[in-house]
Amino acid sequence: MSNKISSKNPSKFLSRRDFLKTTALGSLVMGASFILPNWAALARMPKMHKNPLAIPPLEKGKKQDDLTIFDLEIQDGVTEFFSGTKTATRGVNGSYLGPTLRMNNGDRVRLNVKNSIGETTTLHWHGLHIPAKYDGGPHQPIKHNETWSPEFTIMQKAANFWYHPHLMGKTAEHVWQGIAGLIIIDDEESKSLALPNEYGIDDIPLVLQDRRFFQDGSITYSPSRHDIMMGMVGGVPLANGTITPYFKATKQLLRLRLLNGANASIYELGFSDGRVFKQIATDGSMLEKPFETSSLLLAPGERAEIIVDVRGQENFMLVSKPAAMMGGNMGGGNMGGGMMGSNNSNEEYGGIFNFLEIQPVKNLIKSPPVPMKLTTINWLDPKTADNERSFEMAMQMGPMMMLGLGKSHTINGKSMKMKRIDETIKLDAIEIWELSNISNYPHPFHVHDVQFQIISRNGKKPHQGERGLKDTVLVNPNEIVRFIAKFDDFADPDNPYMYHCHILEHEDAGMMGQFVVV
Ligand code: C2O
Ligand code: CU
Ligand code: CU
Repeated sequence: MSNKISSKNPSKFLSRRDFLKTTALGSLVMGASFILPNWAALARMPKMHKNPLAIPPLEKGKKQDDLTIFDLEIQDGVTEFFSGTKTATRGVNGSYLGPTLRMNNGDRVRLNVKNSIGETTTLHWHGLHIPAKYDGGPHQPIKHNETWSPEFTIMQKAANFWYHPHLMGKTAEHVWQGIAGLIIIDDEESKSLALPNEYGIDDIPLVLQDRRFFQDGSITYSPSRHDIMMGMVGGVPLANGTITPYFKATKQLLRLRLLNGANASIYELGFSDGRVFKQIATDGSMLEKPFETSSLLLAPGERAEIIVDVRGQENFMLVSKPAAMMGGNMGGGNMGGGMMGSNNSNEEYGGIFNFLEIQPVKNLIKSPPVPMKLTTINWLDPKTADNERSFEMAMQMGPMMMLGLGKSHTINGKSMKMKRIDETIKLDAIEIWELSNISNYPHPFHVHDVQFQIISRNGKKPHQGERGLKDTVLVNPNEIVRFIAKFDDFADPDNPYMYHCHILEHEDAGMMGQFVVV
C-alpha cells in the first residue's frame, strides 16, 4: 500500500475564505458570489491570476527504424498547486498530468507504460481507432512495477485525443489524482494549413479540470454517496494543473486545444468579455470550416479546438459560465443543487470558473487569417446503415440506491459486468446508434474504437460546432441523439471495447457496457 493519497484523513474542505487567502481572488469572487457576474468587470481585473500556465512537455517519442517509441511511467508525486502547500498527486512522467504525446497519422507507435503507483491501473487511448487488446480499458490492467507495451498504427484524422486510466471501478479515482494527458495527431492536411502551430507559444493545450481541496491541501478522492450519484465536482478550477493561471499571448491569434478532463463537470466555455472565437475542431477531426461562436459546451471527455483573436486593450479570461455547472442545456436546473450542493462547489465562487487569464502583449505579432476550409469529412449516409441499436441511460434514485443497495447507473437496464458482452457488431458494419436519456441528469456518452457522426438531436440536425468526427456526445435529459459510425479494421471476438457515460463516477457506478467486433 504505497498509496499515500488515500491514506490521508483530511477533516474538512478548504473553505472559501482559505481559498481566497491563497489566491488573491478575494474581492472579485466575494462580489461575484452575491450578485450576478458582470463579465465586463471580470475582464477589467488586471493581472489577478498569478501563476504562469503550465504547458505539458511535448513528447514526440524516439524513432527506432519504422517505430516511434514513447516511454511513460505512471507515478506518485507531490504538486504545489498553492505555493507552500504540498499535495499528494499522481501523474505520467511527472507529478500531475502527463506529457502531450505528438504523433502523425500513419505512424507505427509503441507505448511502454510502466506502472509505479503501488496498485493496479490501466492507460486508455481515448478516441483512437486501435485493436481492442491495446485499448487500455478495464481488460488490460497493468500491475504495480509492470510495463505494458501496446503497439499500433495511428489511423486518425488530425485532432486531439487523450490518455487516462480505465480500471474497472477505479477510473474516477485515478483520473482525479492526476493521471491524464493529451495526444495530438497531425496529418498531411493539418500540416499544410496556415494555423497557429508553435506549441506553447500560439498553440496551447489546455486540460480543464476542477478539484475539491481539503484544508490540508490534499485532493483525496472520497466521494459521498451524493457525489457518486451526481459525479465528483470541485470548486477550484485548474488548467493544465495550474490554479489561477495566466498566459502571455505574443501573437494575434491563439489556438487552444481544449480537453474537458474533469470527472463530472460540464463546462460552458467563453471569454469574460463575450468575444467571439472560431471553433475549428471537434473530438476526432477538424470541422470542415471554422464555426464562429461565443460559447462552447464541453462535457467530460470531449475536446474542441478554438482560435481566438487576442487583440484588444485588456486582459481577458477564459471562463466557464454558471449555466453549464447546472448541467448545460438541461433546462429547469432542478438538478443544479445536486452538482453544486457539495460544500466546496463552484457555487461559492459565484458559479464562474475562471480557467485562464489571457494577457496580450503590447506589440502582437501578426498571424495569418484562419483558413476558410479546414478539411473534408466523408459523411456516412444513414440510408446505407446495416444495423441500428438503442442505448437508454438511466439512474435509479430510489431509497435502496441511496443506501448503496443495488446498482444505480445503467444502460439498457444493465450495469457493467466484465464477463458480459452486451453487443456484437459485424466487422465493417455501418451502424446507427440511438442514445436516449431517461434520467433528469445529462450524460456524455462515449464509445471506444470508432469516431462517429451525429445525425440528429431530437430529430434536428446538430449545430455546426458538432459537425465533425466525435467519440463523446452529451445527451441531455429527455433527448434522443442518433449517430452513425463504421466499425472497420479490427475484429476480435475475445477482447471487447467499452461504451459508457464519461462522468467518471457514473462509469464506475455501472453506466458502461461492452461490445465486440467480429
Ligand atoms: Cu475516456 Cu472509456 O474513456
Ligand atoms: Cu475512450
Ligand atoms: Cu452519466
